[in-house]
Amino acid sequence: MADLKTTLGSLTLKNPVVTGAGPLAGTADHIRQCVDAGFGAVCTKTTSFSPYLQRYPRPLYRLKDYVLNPDSPRFFPDHYMWFHRDHNSIFPPDRFVNIIKEVSGYCKENGTVLIGNFAGRGLEEWVQTVSQYAEAGCDAMELNFCCPFPPKGLESDPANAFIGMSFTADPERGAEVISTLKEKVSIPLFPKISPASSNFAAVAMMFEEAGADGLSLFANEQLLRIDIETGKPVNYGPCAGTSPIFKAHTMKWVSQVAQRTDLPILGGRGASAWSDVIEFLMAGADGVEMCTPVMLRGFGYVEEVLRNVNEFLDRKRIASLEEIKGSALKHIYSNLEMIEKVKALHAEIDMDGCIGCHRCSEVCVYSAVKVLPKKAAIMKEKCAGCSLCSQVCPVSVIKMHERDSDQEHFQALAWEHKELMPELFDCSQE
Ligand SMILES: Cc1cc2nc3c(=O)[nH]c(=O)nc-3n(C[C@H](O)[C@H](O)[C@H](O)COP(=O)(O)O)c2cc1C
Ligand code: SF4
Ligand code: SF4
Repeated sequence: MADLKTTLGSLTLKNPVVTGAGPLAGTADHIRQCVDAGFGAVCTKTTSFSPYLQRYPRPLYRLKDYVLNPDSPRFFPDHYMWFHRDHNSIFPPDRFVNIIKEVSGYCKENGTVLIGNFAGRGLEEWVQTVSQYAEAGCDAMELNFCCPFPPKGLESDPANAFIGMSFTADPERGAEVISTLKEKVSIPLFPKISPASSNFAAVAMMFEEAGADGLSLFANEQLLRIDIETGKPVNYGPCAGTSPIFKAHTMKWVSQVAQRTDLPILGGRGASAWSDVIEFLMAGADGVEMCTPVMLRGFGYVEEVLRNVNEFLDRKRIASLEEIKGSALKHIYSNLEMIEKVKALHAEIDMDGCIGCHRCSEVCVYSAVKVLPKKAAIMKEKCAGCSLCSQVCPVSVIKMHERDSDQEHFQALAWEHKELMPELFDCSQE
């Protein structure tokens, strides 16, 4: 069995799978269930002092693209879009602290790291509540710089308007919260940032400079879909949402933040399969948050994820997760490195195995596939080497080969308009 421990700055987690803040960890009983399920750390449901965010919640959950399978009730589709209107805890922070007190001992006994989550407005609120959470037994704190987004119509109240994602959108204000808290509390601080910003690496650098101990990316984003049968927006208009399809976006930013800061990273938003845990770690994360995948499948899913992660590590003879953390970063190429190091390709079909389905010609936008009776052939001189045909061929008889020269590759790209690029073709005749 591999060692699944992961360090997150000064914290050590027994494994990298972390409860994403939300209803999975909104009561003492639920937090204990997270611990029993095997999570390496638990992030608790966000609290705030904003009355309308406590009293507003209509936790309506709506799934779109979630395919049901009546023949297999426990079938879980890989893809779904999740929309919700689940704002802050009904419990104000100074009362939620009692829940933290109640469960912190249980978390410690079971080696589960307890991370609080709070959305403050002014500095005074931030200091008061984060101090209380620390005293109550939290090992670390997620600073909610991500949600809520004030529900439309309610943001007009200036006392409540600057909260949650405002601290990512205006990172100077976020940095001020971090540096103020660093002087008052000693537990590690993880700003949890919103995906509704632009340059997260720059935001991360600013927060690192201010003293952040790590970063959680990302929370939900406001999303919109329309039900075309009713003509109405899903869940009454733009609202918080997530989906496994966001994995690639989150992972890109995890890698960029990992390359540009020394901050430990809790990656999440879109990680749903056990293999996503490995991917996130290879991209530079130190832990991986999961919320909706566990809400949909139940707490037993955590054990399944951990078992599969373990089996993968054993199969690859990897003794410890630390070996794979950030391991993909050195293979990330810049555009210049792509030109210098990656050879151009061309496709070739093994005609004996070809079943003549012509999928290759359907996808070839470079018109490089010749359709033959019950077969197909590739015109090497026109093949741009994109490799799409080799990935859709149902019998995998298309192989990609490196080209001898870039010149041939550029000729293939210009083939349809040789007259526009005579220098490419003149050269080859020399
Ligand atoms: C119903 C629901 C409630 C959530 N509540 C909170 C919250 O209170 N605080 C928070 O920081 N994130 C909250 N989140 C965001 C999750 O912690 C997580 O960042 C997000 O769902 C993306 O991860 P996922 O794709 O694994 O679900 C909530 C998510 C859902 C689905
Ligand atoms: S590799 Fe791309 S360009 Fe070449 S034949 Fe296949 S689909 Fe066409
Ligand atoms: S997709 Fe594969 S099997 Fe189908 S015609 Fe092309 S090479 Fe042949």
